[in-house]
Amino acid sequence: MHVLPEQTPALIRLRDYRAPAWRVETVELDFDLGIEATELSARLLLRRDASQNLPLRLDGENLQLLSIALDGVPLPATAYRYTGNVLEVDGARDGSVLETRVRLRPAANTALEGLYLSGSHETGFLLTQCEAEGFRHITFFPDRPDVQSRYSVTLRADRARFPVLLAGGNPDGSGELEGGRHWARFVDPHPKPSYLFALVAGRLEKIERDYVTADGRAVQLKIWAEADAIGRCGYAMDALERSMRWDEQAYGRNYDLDVFHVVATHDFNMGAMENKGLNIFNAKCLLADPDSTTDDEYRHVEAVVAHEYFHNWSGNRVTCRDWFQLSLKEGLTVFREQSFSADMNSAPLKRIEDVSLLRRAQFPEDAGPLAHPVRPAQYSEINNFYTATVYEKGSELVRMLAGALGRAGFRRGMDLYFERNDGHAATLEDFLGALGDANGTDLMPYLAWYGQAGTPRLKAHGRYDAVRQEYTLTLAQHAPGTAGAEPRPALPIPVKLALFDRDGGMLPLHLDGQTSEGITELVVVLAQVEQRFVFGNVASSPVPSLLRGFSAPVILECDYTPGELALLLGHDVDGFNRWEAGQQLAARAYEDLRDGASADALQAWCAALALLFDSHGIDDALLADLLTPPGEVELAERETAIDPQHIHHLRQRLQLRLAERLGAEALHQRYLALAAHTTIDMDATSQARRRLKRRVLELLNLLDRARAGELAAAQYHDAPGMTDRLAALTVLLRGQAPQAASALLDYRTRYADNALALDKWFAVQAQIPDEDAPERVLMLERDPGFTLKNPNRVQALLGAFVRGNPSGFHRIDGAGYRLLAERLIALDALNPQVAARLATAFNGWQRLESQRRGAARAAIAELAGHHGLSRNLAEIIGGVLN
Ligand code: ARG
Ligand code: ZN
Repeated sequence: MHVLPEQTPALIRLRDYRAPAWRVETVELDFDLGIEATELSARLLLRRDASQNLPLRLDGENLQLLSIALDGVPLPATAYRYTGNVLEVDGARDGSVLETRVRLRPAANTALEGLYLSGSHETGFLLTQCEAEGFRHITFFPDRPDVQSRYSVTLRADRARFPVLLAGGNPDGSGELEGGRHWARFVDPHPKPSYLFALVAGRLEKIERDYVTADGRAVQLKIWAEADAIGRCGYAMDALERSMRWDEQAYGRNYDLDVFHVVATHDFNMGAMENKGLNIFNAKCLLADPDSTTDDEYRHVEAVVAHEYFHNWSGNRVTCRDWFQLSLKEGLTVFREQSFSADMNSAPLKRIEDVSLLRRAQFPEDAGPLAHPVRPAQYSEINNFYTATVYEKGSELVRMLAGALGRAGFRRGMDLYFERNDGHAATLEDFLGALGDANGTDLMPYLAWYGQAGTPRLKAHGRYDAVRQEYTLTLAQHAPGTAGAEPRPALPIPVKLALFDRDGGMLPLHLDGQTSEGITELVVVLAQVEQRFVFGNVASSPVPSLLRGFSAPVILECDYTPGELALLLGHDVDGFNRWEAGQQLAARAYEDLRDGASADALQAWCAALALLFDSHGIDDALLADLLTPPGEVELAERETAIDPQHIHHLRQRLQLRLAERLGAEALHQRYLALAAHTTIDMDATSQARRRLKRRVLELLNLLDRARAGELAAAQYHDAPGMTDRLAALTVLLRGQAPQAASALLDYRTRYADNALALDKWFAVQAQIPDEDAPERVLMLERDPGFTLKNPNRVQALLGAFVRGNPSGFHRIDGAGYRLLAERLIALDALNPQVAARLATAFNGWQRLESQRRGAARAAIAELAGHHGLSRNLAEIIGGVLN
């Protein structure tokens, strides 16, 4: 079948890149702010590239042009043309000054791109979102990241309605105006691309802290939020200070303005935005207090605060030449953020979390019709490329490079990268070039990773020769989807490895005859399609621990026996690989259950976990993760005709077997022991206890619902904080406990005025994996708290349903698909970015079993035939259908 959406929009291609014909040296913006109407004048000092004899063309998206003048002379209508997207002006020269005045309608802007209103007309505030191409919704400009300009911004507004006026850069004066109005000016000394422009205006409160950078600059840190939220900003302030110190120590990077503003909004399309000197955050990535924030969310806040702060160097001081290079800033910044979080918390737990996310979100993306390289070759709508591939796989690629260079070498390379490219718009070649040059090595072979989609497979096969005391490891790589396609270059795949003897001890490694005293772990790089590595002096047949720490983003295929995996699960000292061995074993056990095959893997898995459960030598949080088998989405990746409801039931059975092996009494006793320490403290030990307590209660809930229900009901009411409360509520709902209804009601009332906590009330119900899931979503849509206009609420209900509830969404009658398709039409008219992101839930429908596949196809085809889809949604739907 081949259904094309109505309009097939033009593709932008990397290979068509041309340097800008016109640049802007300085920008002066002067805003008269109002909720219904805002007017702004822009004054651009233009620079022309003499080598490209092209007329002046500026981007401008449906702007209401009030006046236009060139070099001080108003232009007659014959001297310019405006198509609604592009403004072409005659007579501009190098050094010309273009002045335009436009009117914007912030309150009518439901797409949340450009200048918009957050909250109500009466009490809300104005703000901007410009990445990737929002600035063209504000004024006429060459809206591309390789045009970097110095900005001065003046804001004028009614003082009572807009007491706080903020823009990026340093403050440069403020004062009173007639009629109760006031003004404030900001000048940014650092040239920047237009996507980093930002302003905020309204009634906001702040918390402040003084900070002195390692190189001696006094900086005022200010976090702004609405009055009811300002009390929840303290944790973010601490996280910001930790991030700034860490970037000084780990990368030698200092902050470079006198103020650093951070603002929280409840109306935001993404997580947060690194605008120069004025970061803007989705409230869910900034606000935190024990009563409404879970432990996982606390760590997320810390990570996002760090991420946006780190962009000040990896993104702002060195930006991207074009949007194809997006991973240059995003992959790198995610890697920096992950390293920071690993340093602040537990490194192995962080690695488990990151790899789980990669497998849950990026592997399926890379295996379906929306797959794209980390550096895509083409796009229609750039906002569709803020993906798990660009972010998370991009980070994995940086991690491989960092691993190849070692700690000191990577730092040298990063220093050179920042030094060479400071103030410039760079490419991935600039990045690999600097890292390599600083270390006298050529990293360009890694560029192949950036240019091809799909998760490579790594086959490993070991052979032990007892006579020669040799162990030969054969590694082979296989790129996905290569049948019939052009042969792809072999990728460099770093494989960190160790060898274990059958008692769980690590063996010294003697690779290819080289004797390296006392080395028990090393990295080999597979640079060809297939390679053999021979280890000598191996006294007995070893068990290899491969890809330690997940040293490359590949799918490892290795012919382990269940006993070998159990050995690694019991003994590997690499916390990540120990968990990974358990995941592999659990996946085997799952497949055996499915196929009615032998129970060897299941028994090995349960026995190894039972031992770990009883030994007290393991961290509670790691134990909780070990007791959790791969998720339904990951398990589905192993199937060809996917039946998500069947997968759900099999996974439940798998967990039930584990619970039976551990035993109801032991689970109950462990729960009580952990519950005896219930506190609200945020230290690692307390968080780890809460994590294990939740897991233990979930397992008990599979064995003995009545007993678990009572414990959960008590936990719900006595919970000192959100982590315990939400865990209890989830267990009550999953177990269909009689106490569930009253707990839900209590929660709804308790958090009626707390949007972020209420989001979780929607999400936890949207994820109940039973037959009634679609109807439950319909019912929740009728709650007065539900609205399609707020992206967080849409994610909480519809996002949680389509992504967090595979068995409910994929109900065999197709009700979930129809529901999603209908909502996408309504949502697309309001907010195309959010609609397009939600629509990616249809990705992978081709691999469903036939009845669901037919139902999904019908829903998607109907959507594709709808008139007037946004470019965002059309691109996703068109892609998904392929
Ligand atoms: N640069 C932001 C980040 O830190 C993401 C902003 C993307 N916004 C968008 N509308 N595509 O990841
Ligand atoms: Zn980012």
